[in-house]
Amino acid sequence: MNQAYHYPEELELLTYPHPILRRPAEPVTLFDDQLAAFCRRMLDAMHQFKGVGLAAPQVGVSRQIFVSDHGGLMAEQDPPPSLERIWINPRIEQHQGSTTYEEGCLSFPGIYAKVERHDRFTVVWQDLQGAEQRLELNAADDVLGIVVQHELDHLHGKLFVDHLTTVQLTLVRRKLKEMEQAYKKATGKAGSILRR
Ligand code: CO
Repeated sequence: MNQAYHYPEELELLTYPHPILRRPAEPVTLFDDQLAAFCRRMLDAMHQFKGVGLAAPQVGVSRQIFVSDHGGLMAEQDPPPSLERIWINPRIEQHQGSTTYEEGCLSFPGIYAKVERHDRFTVVWQDLQGAEQRLELNAADDVLGIVVQHELDHLHGKLFVDHLTTVQLTLVRRKLKEMEQAYKKATGKAGSILRR
């Protein structure tokens, strides 16, 4: 344990159906400068990709890390505030109720769909120093609650299209097929495609 982990310098965005997106991520055990520098690179990459959240598996790192900045989703504030956050080894402790929100994902360009999520919940995570943090969120009122649940799914190998109903899936099926074909053409492999 606590072995140094080599984080990549250049971050490449991986899209569906890359198999690493399906792999459960490993916990972070070493809170060192390498980790901090990697999180900074993830935040920069997320802004560059124009995302509000980015999970480490999306850049090929199977570790329980995601970053977020939901400032751009706060339409009432101009210019949008910077609300960068780093979440390490996150988990949801308790949840209550549900709410829906139209979600997209950097790993599924051009696909958007309403997804049902928990409304109220507590998220527990570690900061860059390894100190435990907790926050109660109310996803119906605070979009950060949506971002956290979407990104946390990534760390378990779960993707937002897994939440879609059969009807919703028919609407995006063609785009998914196109992505599967592009991946197969580029790699010669099938990737981890949806099984339904
Ligand atoms: Co995503």
